Amino acid sequence: MLHRDFIRDLPQKVGSTVVVRGWIFRRRTAGKLCFIEVRDGSGVVQAVVKKGAVGDAEFEAADKVQLESSVAVTGTVRADPRAPGGVELSVTAFEVVSACIADFPLGKKEHGIGFLMEERHLYLRSRKPTAVLRIRAEVVRALREWLDGHGFTAVDAPIFTPAAAEGTANLFKVDYFGEPAFLSQTGQLYMEAAAQALGKVYCFGPTFRAEKSKTRRHLTEFWMLEPEIAFGDLDEVMGVMEQSVSHAVARVLERCRPELEALGRDLGKLENVKPPFPRVSYDEALKVLEGTPAAIAWGEDFGAPQEDAISARYDRPVLVHRFPMKIKAFYMRPDPARPDVALGCDLIAPDGYGEIIGGGERSSDLAYLEGKIAHEGLPKAAYEWYLDLRRYGACPSAGFGLGLERTVSWICGLDHAREAAAFPRTLNRVYP
Ligand code: 4AD
Ligand code: MG
Repeated sequence: MLHRDFIRDLPQKVGSTVVVRGWIFRRRTAGKLCFIEVRDGSGVVQAVVKKGAVGDAEFEAADKVQLESSVAVTGTVRADPRAPGGVELSVTAFEVVSACIADFPLGKKEHGIGFLMEERHLYLRSRKPTAVLRIRAEVVRALREWLDGHGFTAVDAPIFTPAAAEGTANLFKVDYFGEPAFLSQTGQLYMEAAAQALGKVYCFGPTFRAEKSKTRRHLTEFWMLEPEIAFGDLDEVMGVMEQSVSHAVARVLERCRPELEALGRDLGKLENVKPPFPRVSYDEALKVLEGTPAAIAWGEDFGAPQEDAISARYDRPVLVHRFPMKIKAFYMRPDPARPDVALGCDLIAPDGYGEIIGGGERSSDLAYLEGKIAHEGLPKAAYEWYLDLRRYGACPSAGFGLGLERTVSWICGLDHAREAAAFPRTLNRVYP
């Protein structure tokens, strides 16, 4: 194994000689001193190369090395209260592992978003994307931690699927050895089967929607976390939504403070995110919207204007429940007290981030589902396995899907959900 000391650990190594392997982040020379900031993924440290302390060739290499070249820097760790991280390196050996073939394409000047997306593979090394990716990893860890700690078993859903679950308009069709198959829009139907085996389950994986939308909330490939609870109801899943999301936000506040600060996130707003979240029915929401520019007629779906107007009334996410059946997916359970509304619920994030979760109760009624599948013109044969779940020990079931990129985008305060993915896929982007 190649020996290396991680920058994160240097404060514990004051006085010793270490080898840092990483990339040139910033560089300036002042006479006989060359100041090089090296980053290695665990942190950034300033390395001071002094003429005479290293060979002339090494000093010249340090003086000339281009930004983002890879290097191995050997030096003594010195405590320096002014340095970020509290330490600095006095360099005793400087080696260029691989010099850039030309100036790094992302220099100091401001670049437009189109260029940054085209150069995403290189832009990832910058402060903002690395902060976002660390927070994303923490959000995933925390959500899994919450579910794992509350009796859920992780089950992976397939990505090639025989049928639609969230409408047929946005399916990605693939040629599966001459037969049509579709990239999964949701793992939910499979989680319903798994919940009948394991009780409480969740899947977490990529999902696909051929969305022709160019909004800041839409990706064509996104990751979804989908818990499903056998014998669960709407009230129980709303509890899981607010608790798991609050736990994730608390973990990010606890463990990713430098990243949140690097992104300029307003921490006070995140600190408000604690259960219980306000609960508002679709009907109540419509009353609130009456007479405002976001007013809609009963039966119309929420768009960004409606979500934003409702969420603006609260200091934390809001749960909107009982949307009209006709705008919801075929599997939703109608409210027995009001069959024109579904026992479903969306979680709407504050500050215009919109719906980050959708979910609710599933119908366990075989005849009802057969009717829905016929009514929506779905190919019944592809759903026989799903209908079997209602033929053999049907039970009430409830769950939800949390869109990871939208959630991370909100927690980080980003402009667009694509910023929350390392390599986002959108209507007009599959490169790099
Ligand atoms: O509301 P949706 O469509 O719900 C489902 O797919 C359910 N089957 C989930 C379940 O109950 N297990 O999608 C759930 C979430 C949305 O709230 C949103 O956060 C995210 O997935 N999402 C998208 N994120 C980015 N780009 C898109 N095109 C998205 N479509 C949905
Ligand atoms: Mg939805």
